[in-house]
Formats: sequence, C-alpha cells, structure tokens
Amino acid sequence: MKIGIIGSGGREHALCYTLKKSKKVKKIYCFPGNGGTAAIAENISIDLSNFQELKNIINKNKIDLIVVGPEKPLVEGVVDFLKLNKIKVFGPNKLAAQLEGSKIFTKNLCEKYKIPTAKFGVFEKENEAIKFVKHSNLPVVIKADGLASGKGVYICQTIDECQKAIDEIFGGKFGKAKNLLIEEFLTGEEMSFFILSDGKSIKTFQTAQDHKRVLEGDLGKNTGGMGAYSPSRLINKVLEKKILNKIIYPTIQGLQDMNVVYSGFLYAGLMIVKDEPYLIEYNVRMGDPECQTILPKLNTDLFDIILACCNEELEKIDIKWNNKKSLCIVLCSKGYPDKYDKEVIIDNLKEIKPNNNDFCFHAGTKFMKNEFYSIGGRVLNFVSVTDSFEKSRERIISLIEKLNWKKGFFRKDIGYKVIPK
Ligand code: AMP
Ligand code: GLY
Repeated sequence: MKIGIIGSGGREHALCYTLKKSKKVKKIYCFPGNGGTAAIAENISIDLSNFQELKNIINKNKIDLIVVGPEKPLVEGVVDFLKLNKIKVFGPNKLAAQLEGSKIFTKNLCEKYKIPTAKFGVFEKENEAIKFVKHSNLPVVIKADGLASGKGVYICQTIDECQKAIDEIFGGKFGKAKNLLIEEFLTGEEMSFFILSDGKSIKTFQTAQDHKRVLEGDLGKNTGGMGAYSPSRLINKVLEKKILNKIIYPTIQGLQDMNVVYSGFLYAGLMIVKDEPYLIEYNVRMGDPECQTILPKLNTDLFDIILACCNEELEKIDIKWNNKKSLCIVLCSKGYPDKYDKEVIIDNLKEIKPNNNDFCFHAGTKFMKNEFYSIGGRVLNFVSVTDSFEKSRERIISLIEKLNWKKGFFRKDIGYKVIPK
C-alpha cells in the first residue's frame, strides 16, 4: 500500500515512522512533511488548502490511503472532498470536525447531552459580555469560537484583562467573530484522553499530559507544547469508565443524532476535578507532542488499525500496548514562542543516532544541501520509552546535550509531577 500523510509536525513524523514499520506499507508521501520525514518518505510541498491539487497528486502517484494529521484541513473538509473523489481517507469529516472547529458547537452539545464541562455563556455583543463578567467570580476564561492555533483562550484575572480579551476577539484577532464564549474557570489537573472511532465502535488510544507553558515550573507564555508524557498519572479504570460514559459515548451519540458519523482519532482535553472529569475541549486529531509519546508504546501495526477504522472494522482489532513510561521533550528555537531565527543549521544532528527506545522526531526542520535546518519554533522532539519517567527524561536530556545546538532551548522539568525531585 502507498500512504499519504498530511501535515508537517512532530506528530506527522511519528505517524510516518510508525506506519513505515508496517510490512504492508510500501511507500509514504508527506504533504509537505519535514526534514525527518524526508529520510523515510517522499515529501511533496503543496498548498494544503488547494484540495484539487492534492487530489491530482494522490491520483498521479496512485496513493491508496490518506492520513490527515492537523485540524485545519479536517475543519476545512478535506475528508469530505477526498471521499467524494473515491479516495480512502482517515479522519473525521467537516461536520464532525466542528467539535474542534467551533467551541460553541461543542458547548451546546455538552449542554444538550449533559456532558460535564465548565459553565458557560455565549455573547454576541461586547457590552453584554462585559456586563456578564462584571457580575462573575474571577478568573473567567474567555474564548474565541473558531480555530486559533491554541491562542484564542484568555484566562482573565481582572476586568481589564476581560475587556482586552473581548476587544481582541471582537476586533477580529482570530478572524471575524460573531460571538464569543465566557466560561467558569475550573481548578484541577489537566489530562489528554485519546480514542479512535470508526463510527460504529470506539477504542481507547492512551492518555498523556502535556506542558504548554514555555518556562520551567509551567510559567510564562502558552506554546504549542514543550513536552509531554504518557500515561497520565491520573488515569485508572474508574476514571476511564467515567470519561467514557459521561463524555465520550454521549458525544458520539449526540453526533449520531445529527446524522454525523465520527471516524478517526478524537482527543478530549479534560480537567480532572476531585476525581471527576470535565471536558475543556475536543480536538479532532492526535495531540502534538502527545502523539510522539504514545505511538512508540504501540505494539499493534498502526496501518492495520487505521485501515480497520476506514473499513468500519475497528471492533475486530485488538490494540496492544507496552506498559512503559514515555516522555517527550521539545527542543525549540531560542526566542520561541515570540521571535526566533529561521533557517539555522543544526550542525550535529546527523551524528545523533538514537537507539531502540529513544526517538528523535522532527517538527520544524528542513533537509537541504545535505544539512538539517530549523524552520520553525518547535524544532525537534526527543522521546524515550523506559521503565520509569525519570530514566526516560535522563536519556533524553543526555541526547539533547550531546546534540548541543547553540540556537535551541528546552525545558528540563518535563514530567515533574511524575518524577521525584
Ligand atoms: P483550550 O484551547 O480550550 O484547550 O484552552 C487552552 C488551555 O486553557 C487549556 O489547556 C487549559 O489549560 C485552559 N483552560 C481552558 N478552559 C478552561 C477552563 N474552563 N478552566 C480552566 N482552564 C481552562
Ligand atoms: N498538545 C496540545 C495539542 O495538540 O493541541
């Protein structure tokens, strides 16, 4: 089989690497991929919003199956387009992708199906939003409705901060805004919970916790993710049952009631408050960098799983995992998430040869003139899978220190909640 993977991050390199291990996968194409996928697949650089061009390349190269990594093409309907053109594709369709594409869609679904989530209000007028926060207990969380690359969420401690958030959202910072969401602030511990669905049945696909803040101690600005570990320290059988029964099943049912079939990965961002799960958000894809920590623990052929999902035969597959502790540290360009240099050579990278249970997944890199260059803020994802989080972290740090990239930085405290001081 020939596979095509849409996306260019660490998640897509991890998907590519894991699919490549399958004996049934003959060749992989990445649209557009990165420096890491270039070594194991053919990278094809295209404008991902041009579905027609994508279709032409898929047909020309006789690609059998497309796997979609990031949310944007899913929310824009790439799955619907490819299916209409008789191309096999793994991921949710446009209607199902609203779970990530519209926070208000998801909140309304939660309300209708009594899915536990923060209390909320939807506001179409600036003065009504302000009036509401003036009568609320602070902090409150103010959110833009649509996709905002993780930036459309404001945790506001003062009325001035609320005013700024409301001004920015209605001012169009995240695209034209008809309305916004104001939520109660939940205090607890966050956890990422993953499942796979083929529209008929679901399978759990591990848990993880990520670190979104740029500085050690979970301080500083929000980023796309500085590191993650799997499994989450919070998960146990009782909590898993609650998450499935109170959140996942009612969501899939709610979609079905609207004649929407959910097929693909689904990522529930949860807040666990006194052993009870609350839905913070849905993502209609794997997490990044959570995916990079989860896939190395998989003992079943990922290609078989994905194909079964596309063929609505997921129930027949037994997904097996190892019990190890997986941890990922993201090496970033100095200055990220603000300004940073691009096209900086990563001199030593060719010399770094991770062994069996250590991995180096590329994110913002490019391979040219026989060298690797950084082209993004999050550059490399180092993952290690061992018997303890402590050992995994030690191995990663020693790999990053060996690389010794002068233009990079990383957090040394990833996983501090699961690693004794
Ligand atoms: P989201 O993009 O909705 O996941 O929000 C980004 C981050 O904001 C989450 O990972 C949480 O850390 C935080 N957050 C969002 N909503 C809430 C809430 N209602 N209460 C507390 N924290 C929240
Ligand atoms: N790790 C957060 C995300 O993928 O959205």
